[in-house]
Amino acid sequence: EAEVYKYYSDGEWRKSSSGKSVPIINPTTRKPQYKVQACTQEEVNQVMEAATSAQKSWAKTPLWKRAELLHKAAAILKEHKAPIADFLVKEIAKPAKDAVTEVVRSGDLISYTAEEGVRILGEGKFLVSDSFPGNERSKYCLTSKIPLGVVLAIPPFNYPVNLAVSKIAPALIAGNALVLKPPTQGAVAALHMVHCFHLAGFPKGLISCITGKGSEIGDFLTMHPLVKCISFTGGDTGAAISKKAGMIPLQMELGGKDACIVLEDADLDLVAANIIKGGFSYSGQRCTAVKVVLVMVSVADALVEKVNTKVEKLTVGPPEEDCDITPVVSESSANFIEGLVVDAKQKGATFCQEYKREGNLIWPLLLDHVRPDMRIAWEEPFGPVLPVIRINSVEEGIHHCNASNFGLQGCVFTRDINKAIMISDAMETGTVQINSAPARGPDHFPFQGLKDSGIGSQGITNSINMMTKIKSTVINLP
Ligand code: G3P
Repeated sequence: EAEVYKYYSDGEWRKSSSGKSVPIINPTTRKPQYKVQACTQEEVNQVMEAATSAQKSWAKTPLWKRAELLHKAAAILKEHKAPIADFLVKEIAKPAKDAVTEVVRSGDLISYTAEEGVRILGEGKFLVSDSFPGNERSKYCLTSKIPLGVVLAIPPFNYPVNLAVSKIAPALIAGNALVLKPPTQGAVAALHMVHCFHLAGFPKGLISCITGKGSEIGDFLTMHPLVKCISFTGGDTGAAISKKAGMIPLQMELGGKDACIVLEDADLDLVAANIIKGGFSYSGQRCTAVKVVLVMVSVADALVEKVNTKVEKLTVGPPEEDCDITPVVSESSANFIEGLVVDAKQKGATFCQEYKREGNLIWPLLLDHVRPDMRIAWEEPFGPVLPVIRINSVEEGIHHCNASNFGLQGCVFTRDINKAIMISDAMETGTVQINSAPARGPDHFPFQGLKDSGIGSQGITNSINMMTKIKSTVINLP
């Protein structure tokens, strides 16, 4: 019988009074691996009340002390990289090396946030009144950044540790309390990450981690009156949250259909390497994965051949063996991907490899000659299946990119920098990468999606700012 991990509330590890648990299915074995507590609404209330009260004294804790604790948590997290990475391997089938990288990157993110926080929160503004018409120099305005209160963080399964700390660290440095609702797949890794904050010695109640079924506590959490900010990364749930949430700031990253536009003068070896990295790393389960290749027809054959040569070399198998392609997170995800593949087959796409699936493991697949009437031209597979659409003009590529509901990132490959900039300006996405695959990092870069890809901007500096409000004090001279 699998161990039921406790949730973290008011500085303690607790069992839920529900007596119920939620199983975590190992994507590779498809058998239950761990269990977490199925917390109740009453337990959510307790966590929110503890957070609200802890936040009040935390906001008064000197900024340098908040930073010091974050640095400590970062160091402890890095010390525990091996066991936490092992949980990621078992819970979300992330290749072993990438799992370690996720934890180390998270430690670095926490430290950078502490450093950035002391700088940007250590500065305010001083304004004088006589720059606005009709005013004498009789008012001095002092501004500083103050915390919002309790921040609710909801990260997705693909980065249960990294996309949790990218919300936790900015919230805490800015003087907020933090309630984490981890994804079910990844919850055990997240609980152990939270344990590192516990060991660092943060005040009781300031951070908590509540686990359970979305159907039981999801809406209750996101609509909770004590929540003063929500930072969410994930899928369709984000749109539902944004409709139900109260009058609070929202930060949302909700997926993408990142296009890779390839011009005739592109370095095709570079493009092929980036398509492999961008399209197939973590088996395509990244919001920033390359999800459609739009290549000029004159170089399409050459590019497809180069990509196929590299696809053949990808290793396929269990995450423990550090294979390139590992099982996708769930059976329903694998079924969804298969649905897109079947639709493309029926509508006449060219299969560069044979479609192969065992359980949740799907072999990497490049689909050539994809046309806009195929679902895969528009939908996000979140798996190792990549469509190639041949285009006759750059405008056609830009048009396809902009016709998507998503607008997260995109990339363009060309040796002509002027063209690259013009294409970047024309692409309706939050970021355009020139001559490299889309990616969120380095983690202090701004990260944002247009259209259905999200609300607001992330990245360390933007997240700190987003989790604060401006407070002014005006001195009125006689
Ligand atoms: O899928 C989540 C998104 O934030 C991607 O991050 O680092 O893989 O570009 P990254």
